[in-house]
Amino acid sequence: MENNKEFIEKINRLKKEKDAVILVHNYQRPEIYNIADFIGDSLELSRKAAETDAKIIVFCGVDFMAESAKILNPKKKVLLPTFEAKCPMAAMVNADELEKMRKKYPKAAVVSYINTTAEVKAVSDICCTSSNAVKVVNSLSEKEIIFVPDKNLADYVSRFTKKKIIPWKGFCYVHSRFMPEQVKEAKKLHEDAIVLAHPECPSEVIDKADAVCSTSGMIDFARKSDSRKFIICTEAGMIERLKTEVPSKEFLTLGTICIQQKKNNLQNVYDCLKNETNEIALDENVRIKAKEALDRMLKIK
Ligand code: 13P
Ligand code: SF4
Repeated sequence: MENNKEFIEKINRLKKEKDAVILVHNYQRPEIYNIADFIGDSLELSRKAAETDAKIIVFCGVDFMAESAKILNPKKKVLLPTFEAKCPMAAMVNADELEKMRKKYPKAAVVSYINTTAEVKAVSDICCTSSNAVKVVNSLSEKEIIFVPDKNLADYVSRFTKKKIIPWKGFCYVHSRFMPEQVKEAKKLHEDAIVLAHPECPSEVIDKADAVCSTSGMIDFARKSDSRKFIICTEAGMIERLKTEVPSKEFLTLGTICIQQKKNNLQNVYDCLKNETNEIALDENVRIKAKEALDRMLKIK
């Protein structure tokens, strides 16, 4: 295998030649940060995907992120370095099941987390991400909300709304593993540390957190905070990103890794860009309907 430096140079050269942009989620391998045009959370990456003029988008993240970029950019080539990068939570709800739920609660609006397939987005009223879920739910006129697929995010949102939240039973295998006892122990060992948790964590962990943020929200919080030490309750790789962005502060992780996010590497990024393979393809009817749900979300500032 060639060394990272050579790969990075080759990928950067190809990007120019092919008029490509590389969008990178915060959980990606640190070497991938070096080839990124933009690194961010799901909402920031969707906004960047909606804005770009590039001909090709290489999405270093998981399937639903690349699909969202394609939903917003039907004329562009959107490439996912490997189709093995699939978010298991996004596969926990499908469009047929969701339609059945809609029939059961005909007055409810359907809010789908961006961690869903294009087919599920197509039968949803609006999408949300971890950073705007509360805002999205409170922006709706309906009093009942079917919230898919993350039960923990649904629980989190229900703390900040008077609406009745009808949760799906999905979960993230990385975040649902966090235990309140772990947080308690870590706080005992590091009394001066601030606990930051992602809203995909169980509510008992959210109760013990000092702040609850999206992945990029954690960077912002750490930068602005007077504290010097942070206990981070999200995917373990986020630590590398925090250390790069806020090098003067200390970050401790209690988390495990998201195997699917780590399936992208410099080799498969290079291969997919060079050969223009692993293109995301969507049924046009599905794409148009899914875009309505995404556009409604993107309009919320
Ligand atoms: P963010 O939108 O906060 O980056 O979260 C995406 C995700 O998949 C968390 O597990
Ligand atoms: Fe999906 Fe969880 Fe991985 Fe995020 S961390 S991509 S929600 S499995």
